[in-house]
Amino acid sequence: MFFVVVLTVLSLPFLWWYFFLQKFKSLSLIPGPRLLPIVGNAFDIGDSPTGLFNNCAKLLNQYGDVFKLFIGNECKVFIANADFLEEIMSSNVHIKKSKAYDSVKPFLNDGLLTSTGSKWKKRRKLITPTFHFKILDQFLEVFNSSTDILIAKLSSEVGKDWTDIYPYINLFSLDVICETAMGVKISSQEGKNSEYVQALFHYLDNTTVRGFSAWKRFDFLFKFAAEYPLHEKSLDTLQKFPTGLLEKRRLEKSQEVVENTSDIGMKRRVALLDLLLESEDLTNDDIKEEISTFMFAGHDTTTSAVTFALLALAENPEIQQTVHEEILAVVGDEKYVSMQHLQDTKYLEMVIKEVQRKYSVVPLVERQLEMDATICGIDFPRGATLSLYLYGVHHNEKYFPDPEKFDPDRFLSHRQSERHNYAFVPFSAGPRNCVGQKFAMLAMKVIIIKILKEFKIIQVPDHKPQLGMAAVLKSYNGVRIRLMRRDTDFNGPLRTVCVVVLFFEKVSIS
Ligand code: HEM
Repeated sequence: MFFVVVLTVLSLPFLWWYFFLQKFKSLSLIPGPRLLPIVGNAFDIGDSPTGLFNNCAKLLNQYGDVFKLFIGNECKVFIANADFLEEIMSSNVHIKKSKAYDSVKPFLNDGLLTSTGSKWKKRRKLITPTFHFKILDQFLEVFNSSTDILIAKLSSEVGKDWTDIYPYINLFSLDVICETAMGVKISSQEGKNSEYVQALFHYLDNTTVRGFSAWKRFDFLFKFAAEYPLHEKSLDTLQKFPTGLLEKRRLEKSQEVVENTSDIGMKRRVALLDLLLESEDLTNDDIKEEISTFMFAGHDTTTSAVTFALLALAENPEIQQTVHEEILAVVGDEKYVSMQHLQDTKYLEMVIKEVQRKYSVVPLVERQLEMDATICGIDFPRGATLSLYLYGVHHNEKYFPDPEKFDPDRFLSHRQSERHNYAFVPFSAGPRNCVGQKFAMLAMKVIIIKILKEFKIIQVPDHKPQLGMAAVLKSYNGVRIRLMRRDTDFNGPLRTVCVVVLFFEKVSIS
């Protein structure tokens, strides 16, 4: 009897494994690394942000643009193929996020990024107008003034052998997102609130790694992991932040005499937070989850995008030179970067797109199928995880030959129109696309324009970023550049020459 019990208990995991594999039998034609019993592919993916990044890229090379992994209790199908991405991203049905997003729920709760169904739809409808073009136009003021503070800070770095630009841009982004979306000035560039940045860094590293770990993904087992204490401390800091922000904004609003109307009689910008505060349907907790969501979704992403853009400009001096010439012709010596300037800097836009391709800031997003679905002729069972590998599609030779080469000309309009629409999706696409994408593009343009007007950016010899994915793509050995001040006298003949050069550039762009 005893042996029967022991045998039954020992065979349970194998039985579970057998039924688990049976469930995903229809995916048998999708390639993937060899499976070990019960643990599946747990050892194929790595347990650090850099390991994840390198292993995903390796698997893409080895198995092609659709491959599968069995990790923990999940079957993840990695997709770096534009036809599949189109079917999934454009669907109004496959909008549920995967189990991996559950591990950020203690921080984000059920905000716009993590929620689904009718809750998500209602919130998305409520929030979208706060990112309307007219409101973004008024945010330009903050983008400009925050960049001026950044430039003053960077001035002390001029002439040094190298500067890790990441912490500077990180605080800049935090200030910008708080002052625009939340309507609260937090002055982190001046040394306040920077513990939030540290907490976010640790928290995201741990949560991403948990999503790919066979055992750390389970809350009970994660308590035994070495990183658990720091994870909990970081979470506590992150949870307190929205409370402080909310109180500050409520106080400021109560003290405002003239509300919503600017000096010239126009409606003043309605920050996201004000809109949420005015909505009668939302509780305090509802508002806090959206504050955390927007802080998370807007801050780290913008930081990485800007730092990689500066790195790419340092590594490609001719491209930097062309961007600078365009800035001279469009912005000249004006201090304030306006919407018109941003619309006219077409080459810079191509450069930013190429940065987002080469350094896909959000390398991976995931959905979980709530029903059986046939996608590009393959039958996917309910419960399968679709790992939309944005970094992978952006490095897929089929769409971007010689993918490691930094080449903004890939985004010349005729070349873009020849490419699959879903081959370039840095902000995702379809109903669950990035609500802040215009915001991010404008912020990136302002900061790059102002930095390049002030400084020449030079590559640091032998510095190669060590890339890792922790929700957002980051460099784990910093992003080092050298800063030199530019000659600021651009009037007279030099400026004319630049305008002429730019004219020919523009002809070649359009
Ligand atoms: C370069 C900067 C940015 C990149 C590359 C980026 C990319 C993305 C991507 C790929 C998604 C889809 C995520 C998923 O499906 O899990 C997303 C969603 C989202 N992004 Fe961004 N983002 C950026 C900046 C911003 C900014 C500045 C904000 C806010 C101010 C923002 C707010 C959001 C929100 C709220 C969502 C969830 C939308 C929804 O599910 O309805 N993002 N972003």
